[in-house]
Amino acid sequence: MTSLTEVVDGAEVVVCCGSGGVGKTTTAAVIGLEAARRGRRAVVVTIDPARRLADALGLPEGLTGEPRRVAVEELATADGTDGAGELWAMMLDTPAMFERVVRANAGDDEQADRIVQNRFYRNMATALSGTQEYMASEALHELHDDERFDLVVVDTPPSRNALDFLEAPGVLTRFLDHKAFKLLMMPTRTGFKVLSTASQPILKAIGRVVGSDVLADAVAFFQAFAGMESGFRDRADAVTKLLGDDATRFVLVASPLRETVAEAGWFADQLVSKDFEVAATVVNRMHPRFGDGSVADAARRAATAAERGDEDLAAMWQNLADLRRVALAEREQLEPLVERVGADTMIEVPLLPSDVHDLEGLDLLGEHLFEPAPA
Ligand SMILES: Nc1ncnc2c1ncn2[C@@H]1O[C@H](COP(=O)(O)OP(=O)(O)OP(=O)(O)O)[C@@H](O)[C@H]1O
Ligand SMILES: [Mg+2]
Repeated sequence: MTSLTEVVDGAEVVVCCGSGGVGKTTTAAVIGLEAARRGRRAVVVTIDPARRLADALGLPEGLTGEPRRVAVEELATADGTDGAGELWAMMLDTPAMFERVVRANAGDDEQADRIVQNRFYRNMATALSGTQEYMASEALHELHDDERFDLVVVDTPPSRNALDFLEAPGVLTRFLDHKAFKLLMMPTRTGFKVLSTASQPILKAIGRVVGSDVLADAVAFFQAFAGMESGFRDRADAVTKLLGDDATRFVLVASPLRETVAEAGWFADQLVSKDFEVAATVVNRMHPRFGDGSVADAARRAATAAERGDEDLAAMWQNLADLRRVALAEREQLEPLVERVGADTMIEVPLLPSDVHDLEGLDLLGEHLFEPAPA
């Protein structure tokens, strides 16, 4: 593979994943920008609460949980009727997203208020692991359905559980089907009071462990939640379907260091085990190859120049020998990954002289990741 053009052109969702610091956020920003340059209306959403996406896009004022338009000059007009391309960006705000979902799905304001004021809900919205992943999948669903966008680029956080959000919808569905959940919901179906639910033997046992206040809050939460399960279930099913769709593409980002190569292999295995395919592997921060000559040849010429007393020329040949050695070592480090994902999915991106924190820098990387945009 020589570029991401084809991968992104046919996509409605692109998920960038990989280990910490390899360039996921930067790659997601490049994909959004280049897609916009090709007439797409792209939104880049970062699940990572860090400011890196805003920084990569050159937005000192930062991003929020609402998509905001990024000003890009000279965007191409799509050949279809879609009009000019657009670039948008947002940062997942888990508690805000949760409240939005509750308000959008509650039967009325009173039900929504009862839920968002509940202590169990508030703990869950801010602290429970799994909520962020689940809200990431809700955000993906919302953005994919949003008429303003035709491409959603997802930037995943720097953790091994970054891919948990792929499973979050399924986890929710299983939870809604679980006995304990049905039991918690029972009083609202049969007219019992909260207290009688909490006196069920199994819940009494749970109450002894987590505290009866916590349990009462939880029971009250699930009862307030009554009637919303099917909406949650439908969206969870829709996201599961969307993630498995042909128009959803996974881009694995890696770099040519031993540990990150091993991590990239681990991510590739994770994706495959979840039945997803790696559409492209971006190997970021590569040292370029200078010519076809060998390290030994450059070193020999350095020695010859030194013998002749030409120190400058000797230093230059020595530099070339060193750079070739680095480039060679990087390609050797990458071999396990090439074997794992296949050479035809790999795209090399060079190490730039500096960090990327504006559209100009993203365009520089874009030249390596995409074919030139149509004029
Ligand atoms: N090809 C490159 N050349 C030079 N600098 C780069 C390149 N790619 C990324 N960077 C820089 O490397 C740093 C890390 O990149 P980025 O934030 O995209 O990585 P990440 O994988 O999203 O990290 P995290 O796992 O922390 O979210 C940034 O400062 C970015 O500007
Ligand atoms: Mg990042």
